[in-house]
Amino acid sequence: MIITIDGPAAAGKGTLSQKLADKYGLAYFDTGMVYRAVGLCMLLGGKDLKDVATAEQEAGALTFAKMIELSKHSDFRSAKGGEAASIVSSYPGVRARLLDMQRNFYKNPTFADGTPAKGVIYDGRDTGTVICPSADIKFFITASPEVRARRRYDEFVAKGMETEYETVLKDVKTRDERDANRKDAPMKPADDAIILDTSDMGIDEVYDEAVRIIEVKK
Ligand code: C5P
Repeated sequence: MIITIDGPAAAGKGTLSQKLADKYGLAYFDTGMVYRAVGLCMLLGGKDLKDVATAEQEAGALTFAKMIELSKHSDFRSAKGGEAASIVSSYPGVRARLLDMQRNFYKNPTFADGTPAKGVIYDGRDTGTVICPSADIKFFITASPEVRARRRYDEFVAKGMETEYETVLKDVKTRDERDANRKDAPMKPADDAIILDTSDMGIDEVYDEAVRIIEVKK
Protein backbone atom coordinates (compact mmCIF):
# COMPACT_ATOMS: atom_id res chain seq x y z
CA MET A 1 0.00 0.00 0.00
CA ILE A 2 1.30 3.46 -0.89
CA ILE A 3 -0.17 6.55 0.77
CA THR A 4 0.85 10.13 -0.03
CA ILE A 5 0.28 13.02 2.36
CA ASP A 6 0.96 16.42 0.83
CA GLY A 7 0.27 19.93 2.06
CA PRO A 8 1.83 23.18 3.25
CA ALA A 9 4.43 23.64 5.99
CA ALA A 10 3.33 22.76 9.53
CA ALA A 11 -0.06 21.33 8.54
CA GLY A 12 0.54 18.27 10.76
CA LYS A 13 1.62 15.91 7.97
CA GLY A 14 4.59 14.52 9.89
CA THR A 15 2.69 13.48 13.01
CA LEU A 16 -0.15 11.99 10.97
CA SER A 17 2.26 10.12 8.68
CA GLN A 18 4.16 8.62 11.59
CA LYS A 19 0.97 7.42 13.29
CA LEU A 20 -0.41 5.88 10.09
CA ALA A 21 2.95 4.25 9.30
CA ASP A 22 2.92 2.61 12.76
CA LYS A 23 -0.68 1.42 12.39
CA TYR A 24 -0.32 -0.09 8.92
CA GLY A 25 3.32 -1.32 9.12
CA LEU A 26 4.50 1.07 6.41
CA ALA A 27 7.90 2.70 5.94
CA TYR A 28 7.81 6.48 6.21
CA PHE A 29 9.61 8.90 3.89
CA ASP A 30 9.51 12.55 4.91
CA THR A 31 10.53 14.02 1.54
CA GLY A 32 11.19 17.49 2.97
CA MET A 33 14.36 15.87 4.32
CA VAL A 34 15.98 15.72 0.89
CA TYR A 35 15.63 19.51 0.48
CA ARG A 36 16.64 20.16 4.08
CA ALA A 37 19.77 18.04 3.46
CA VAL A 38 20.73 20.00 0.34
CA GLY A 39 20.00 23.33 2.07
CA LEU A 40 22.11 22.33 5.06
CA CYS A 41 25.03 21.24 2.83
CA MET A 42 24.93 24.74 1.33
CA LEU A 43 24.89 26.41 4.76
CA LEU A 44 27.67 24.22 6.17
CA GLY A 45 29.81 24.79 3.09
CA GLY A 46 29.32 28.57 3.40
CA LYS A 47 27.71 28.65 -0.05
CA ASP A 48 25.35 31.36 -1.30
CA LEU A 49 21.82 29.88 -1.41
CA LYS A 50 21.34 31.69 -4.73
CA ASP A 51 24.16 29.63 -6.26
CA VAL A 52 21.99 27.27 -8.31
CA ALA A 53 24.87 25.29 -9.85
CA THR A 54 26.33 24.39 -6.44
CA ALA A 55 22.89 23.49 -5.08
CA GLU A 56 22.43 21.17 -8.07
CA GLN A 57 25.82 19.59 -7.41
CA GLU A 58 24.92 18.98 -3.76
CA ALA A 59 21.59 17.46 -4.81
CA GLY A 60 23.33 15.16 -7.29
CA ALA A 61 25.76 13.97 -4.61
CA LEU A 62 23.12 13.34 -1.93
CA THR A 63 22.68 9.77 -0.70
CA PHE A 64 20.22 8.34 1.82
CA ALA A 65 23.03 7.73 4.32
CA LYS A 66 24.33 11.30 3.98
CA MET A 67 20.80 12.66 4.47
CA ILE A 68 20.35 10.66 7.69
CA GLU A 69 23.73 11.90 8.97
CA LEU A 70 22.83 15.54 8.19
CA SER A 71 19.45 15.13 9.92
CA LYS A 72 21.31 14.96 13.26
CA HIS A 73 22.54 18.55 12.86
CA SER A 74 20.77 21.20 14.98
CA ASP A 75 20.04 23.36 11.92
CA PHE A 76 18.34 20.53 10.01
CA ARG A 77 14.96 21.38 11.58
CA SER A 78 15.66 25.00 12.57
CA ALA A 79 13.99 28.02 10.95
CA LYS A 80 17.30 28.73 9.16
CA GLY A 81 17.41 25.16 7.82
CA GLY A 82 13.76 25.37 6.71
CA GLU A 83 14.39 28.60 4.84
CA ALA A 84 17.45 27.11 3.09
CA ALA A 85 15.41 24.02 2.12
CA SER A 86 12.60 26.16 0.79
CA ILE A 87 15.01 28.17 -1.40
CA VAL A 88 16.91 25.21 -2.89
CA SER A 89 13.65 23.31 -3.49
CA SER A 90 12.56 26.05 -5.91
CA TYR A 91 15.36 25.12 -8.36
CA PRO A 92 14.10 22.67 -11.04
CA GLY A 93 17.61 21.18 -11.43
CA VAL A 94 17.74 20.39 -7.71
CA ARG A 95 14.30 18.75 -7.80
CA ALA A 96 15.22 16.69 -10.87
CA ARG A 97 18.36 15.32 -9.20
CA LEU A 98 16.40 14.22 -6.13
CA LEU A 99 13.61 12.42 -7.99
CA ASP A 100 15.17 8.96 -8.25
CA MET A 101 16.11 8.87 -4.59
CA GLN A 102 12.49 9.57 -3.62
CA ARG A 103 10.92 7.27 -6.21
CA ASN A 104 13.21 4.31 -5.61
CA PHE A 105 11.96 4.12 -2.06
CA TYR A 106 8.49 2.84 -2.95
CA LYS A 107 9.92 0.22 -5.28
CA ASN A 108 11.78 -1.41 -2.40
CA PRO A 109 10.42 -0.04 0.89
CA THR A 110 12.42 -0.75 4.03
CA PHE A 111 12.39 0.43 7.64
CA ALA A 112 15.38 2.29 9.12
CA ASP A 113 16.90 -1.04 10.28
CA GLY A 114 16.76 -2.46 6.75
CA THR A 115 13.81 -4.85 7.25
CA PRO A 116 11.27 -4.84 4.40
CA ALA A 117 8.00 -2.89 4.84
CA LYS A 118 4.53 -3.60 3.40
CA GLY A 119 4.45 -0.25 1.69
CA VAL A 120 5.21 3.43 2.09
CA ILE A 121 3.81 6.65 3.44
CA TYR A 122 5.22 9.71 1.69
CA ASP A 123 4.92 13.16 3.21
CA GLY A 124 5.76 16.28 1.20
CA ARG A 125 4.43 18.78 -1.31
CA ASP A 126 4.41 16.84 -4.60
CA THR A 127 4.40 13.17 -3.58
CA GLY A 128 0.90 12.45 -4.92
CA THR A 129 1.40 14.49 -8.08
CA VAL A 130 5.05 13.91 -9.09
CA ILE A 131 6.82 11.33 -6.92
CA CYS A 132 4.15 8.65 -6.92
CA PRO A 133 1.07 9.54 -8.98
CA SER A 134 0.01 5.86 -8.85
CA ALA A 135 -0.32 5.88 -5.02
CA ASP A 136 -3.32 3.97 -3.62
CA ILE A 137 -4.56 6.76 -1.36
CA LYS A 138 -3.68 10.45 -1.48
CA PHE A 139 -4.32 13.07 1.16
CA PHE A 140 -3.82 16.82 1.01
CA ILE A 141 -3.65 18.18 4.56
CA THR A 142 -4.01 21.88 5.15
CA ALA A 143 -4.86 24.48 7.81
CA SER A 144 -4.91 28.28 7.99
CA PRO A 145 -1.47 29.99 8.06
CA GLU A 146 -2.20 31.28 11.59
CA VAL A 147 -2.99 27.80 12.94
CA ARG A 148 0.07 26.29 11.25
CA ALA A 149 2.33 29.08 12.53
CA ARG A 150 1.01 28.51 16.07
CA ARG A 151 1.76 24.76 15.82
CA ARG A 152 5.27 25.36 14.44
CA TYR A 153 5.92 28.05 17.09
CA ASP A 154 4.86 25.62 19.86
CA GLU A 155 7.20 22.96 18.39
CA PHE A 156 10.17 25.38 18.40
CA VAL A 157 9.42 26.43 21.98
CA ALA A 158 9.13 22.78 23.10
CA LYS A 159 12.59 22.14 21.60
CA GLY A 160 13.98 25.18 23.46
CA MET A 161 14.50 27.18 20.23
CA GLU A 162 13.99 30.92 20.70
CA THR A 163 11.62 32.63 18.27
CA GLU A 164 8.60 34.95 17.94
CA TYR A 165 5.15 33.90 16.75
CA GLU A 166 5.07 36.78 14.21
CA THR A 167 8.41 35.64 12.73
CA VAL A 168 7.12 32.07 12.35
CA LEU A 169 3.90 33.31 10.71
CA LYS A 170 5.88 35.41 8.23
CA ASP A 171 8.09 32.39 7.46
CA VAL A 172 5.06 30.10 6.94
CA LYS A 173 3.54 32.62 4.49
CA THR A 174 6.81 33.06 2.58
CA ARG A 175 7.21 29.29 2.23
CA ASP A 176 3.57 28.88 1.12
CA GLU A 177 4.14 31.47 -1.55
CA ARG A 178 7.33 29.77 -2.79
CA ASP A 179 5.73 26.29 -2.72
CA ALA A 180 2.62 27.42 -4.59
CA ASN A 181 4.35 29.54 -7.20
CA ARG A 182 7.41 27.54 -8.27
CA LYS A 183 7.19 26.65 -11.94
CA ASP A 184 8.36 23.09 -11.44
CA ALA A 185 6.07 20.85 -9.37
CA PRO A 186 4.10 23.58 -7.57
CA MET A 187 2.33 22.42 -4.44
CA LYS A 188 -1.26 21.50 -5.28
CA PRO A 189 -3.59 18.63 -4.41
CA ALA A 190 -3.60 15.73 -6.87
CA ASP A 191 -6.92 15.48 -8.76
CA ASP A 192 -7.74 12.33 -6.80
CA ALA A 193 -6.53 13.61 -3.39
CA ILE A 194 -8.77 13.78 -0.34
CA ILE A 195 -8.47 17.29 1.12
CA LEU A 196 -8.55 17.63 4.91
CA ASP A 197 -8.59 21.10 6.49
CA THR A 198 -7.29 20.54 10.02
CA SER A 199 -7.65 24.16 11.26
CA ASP A 200 -10.28 23.12 13.80
CA MET A 201 -9.15 19.54 14.36
CA GLY A 202 -6.80 18.01 16.92
CA ILE A 203 -4.28 15.37 15.78
CA ASP A 204 -6.42 12.50 17.12
CA GLU A 205 -9.43 13.68 15.11
CA VAL A 206 -7.30 13.99 11.96
CA TYR A 207 -5.87 10.52 12.53
CA ASP A 208 -9.33 8.96 13.10
CA GLU A 209 -10.67 10.58 9.94
CA ALA A 210 -7.65 9.42 7.88
CA VAL A 211 -8.03 5.83 9.20
CA ARG A 212 -11.75 5.89 8.39
CA ILE A 213 -10.96 6.92 4.79
CA ILE A 214 -8.13 4.36 4.41
CA GLU A 215 -10.35 1.54 5.69
CA VAL A 216 -12.95 2.38 3.04
CA LYS A 217 -10.45 2.75 0.20
CA LYS A 218 -7.83 0.06 0.84
O1 C5P B 1 8.20 19.64 4.93
P1 C5P B 1 9.43 20.43 5.26
O2 C5P B 1 9.14 21.73 5.95
O3 C5P B 1 10.46 19.63 6.00
O4 C5P B 1 10.07 20.78 3.83
C1 C5P B 1 11.18 21.63 3.70
C2 C5P B 1 11.05 22.40 2.38
O5 C5P B 1 11.22 21.49 1.31
C3 C5P B 1 9.68 23.06 2.19
O6 C5P B 1 9.70 24.44 2.47
C4 C5P B 1 9.32 22.81 0.76
O7 C5P B 1 9.53 23.99 0.02
C5 C5P B 1 10.29 21.77 0.27
N1 C5P B 1 9.63 20.53 -0.14
C6 C5P B 1 9.30 20.38 -1.48
N2 C5P B 1 8.76 19.19 -1.92
C7 C5P B 1 8.54 18.18 -1.07
C8 C5P B 1 8.85 18.33 0.30
C9 C5P B 1 9.38 19.53 0.74
O8 C5P B 1 9.50 21.30 -2.25
N3 C5P B 1 8.02 17.04 -1.55
